[in-house]
Amino acid sequence: MPRTAGDISLEHDTPELARSYDDAGLVQFRHGKFLIGPLAIKSGEHVLDIGTGTGRLAEFVAGLVGPNGRVIGIDPLAGRIEIARLRQGDNLQFATGRAEDLARFDDAQFDAVYLNSVFHWISDKDRALQEVRRVLKPGGRLGLNVQDPSHPHQSRVLLRRAIAEAGLAGNRQDSNPVLGSTDDELKSLFAAHGFTGYRSELRALIDIHDDAASLLQWSEASAFGNFLEAFTPSEREQVRRAFARLVEEKRTPEGLKLERYLRFAFAQKAPSHQ
Ligand SMILES: C[S@@+](CC[C@H](N)C(=O)[O-])C[C@H]1O[C@@H](n2cnc3c(N)ncnc32)[C@H](O)[C@@H]1O
Repeated sequence: MPRTAGDISLEHDTPELARSYDDAGLVQFRHGKFLIGPLAIKSGEHVLDIGTGTGRLAEFVAGLVGPNGRVIGIDPLAGRIEIARLRQGDNLQFATGRAEDLARFDDAQFDAVYLNSVFHWISDKDRALQEVRRVLKPGGRLGLNVQDPSHPHQSRVLLRRAIAEAGLAGNRQDSNPVLGSTDDELKSLFAAHGFTGYRSELRALIDIHDDAASLLQWSEASAFGNFLEAFTPSEREQVRRAFARLVEEKRTPEGLKLERYLRFAFAQKAPSHQ
């Protein structure tokens, strides 16, 4: 049964999408390093990766904190955590869980918390930031990246055109729903939850895909069952065909070259003396 456009569900992931994400998510792993660099994670630190997916970035961070540190990755999708657990080690653990409910963690236990390509999936951003602040130590660092609605990915723009060309626009226009944030929205959210030193930067990232099929596979795996879900299977096929035609505009000798835009934001929980 197709869903209403704009809904994000955690109920539609499949083992195939989770497996496919473990490869396709190399895209997110690469830009995840732009998140981890400025967080300046040090040996011995305790770090929480929220929305860890299949755990590739958490595994990288476990290498940074070393044997005296600890990384915990949580994700609401059990199938992704199952794959992440294959990466588990003495300083790296995974569990199912959501940003909005970090009750399993005591107050003030992490030096750094990050969300890589996750914040635009979270509807209750207030609750999530309240929880992040609670589990961070005073002076602890938060880093996240998020889609910015004022700079949609090129593939999203082409997808909208494909939907229109397939004659399916109407109220299902945004059938790759995300809940992005602008710089102003982030700034006030962070301030409302007592974070200091807010800074953000919009980055343009270049992705090369062999063909439309691999781009669609990446989009599907990244959206855990939310991609084009507002359409019936035959409508979806129409959109996919129109999209495959349109995306050829981006063909270069290296492959299909598309720009994505992510806003990277950083802040810290005020030190206890403030
Ligand atoms: C594109 S994947 C990113 C995965 C991983 N961070 C990475 O860098 O590869 C988005 C992830 O956000 C997770 N997610 C969605 N809603 C969430 C929520 N409310 N709290 C925590 N994670 C959530 C999904 O389950 C999914 O694994």
